[in-house]
Amino acid sequence: MPFTSERLKQFEEIKKRYPEGRHKSALLPILHLVQEDHGWLPVAAMDEVAEVLDIKPIEVYEVATFYTMFHVKPVGKYVLEICRTGPCCLVGAENIIQYLKEKLNIEEGETTKDGLFTLKPVECLASCGTGPVLQIGPDYKYHEHLTIEKIDSLIDELRSKG
Ligand code: FES
Repeated sequence: MPFTSERLKQFEEIKKRYPEGRHKSALLPILHLVQEDHGWLPVAAMDEVAEVLDIKPIEVYEVATFYTMFHVKPVGKYVLEICRTGPCCLVGAENIIQYLKEKLNIEEGETTKDGLFTLKPVECLASCGTGPVLQIGPDYKYHEHLTIEKIDSLIDELRSKG
């Protein structure tokens, strides 16, 4: 899956933002563009990124698997990233996660059969005072003070959009 010439040009522009020898710093913005193209980060594309940046493929995999904003396997149309860190758990995040698993009939990291939802618990979303918190890709809008009722209406709304 070779990159388009337009993408390669963008990659070169991004590389120019960083001092000579610091091409690896361009990795994050480039991975965002690659994920925009594919919806996730296929290994072949990450290998090409390594070539573009003249770094080892493992260096790309390390970054892609470290940040939860990157998906290293295909995801559903809507990625439900729910915070599972302590402060959100104190106000019920674990119950919400369990409810989502039962409602969608999937486990953490899985995607519903209709391809609509992926459930991806993540660490702190930096909105600890408004937990439980969920951000929903692809636009990553925050939904705060979650309740079972809010989850039901959110899921209904997204299902109706299809
Ligand atoms: S602990 Fe959930 S947003 Fe920080």
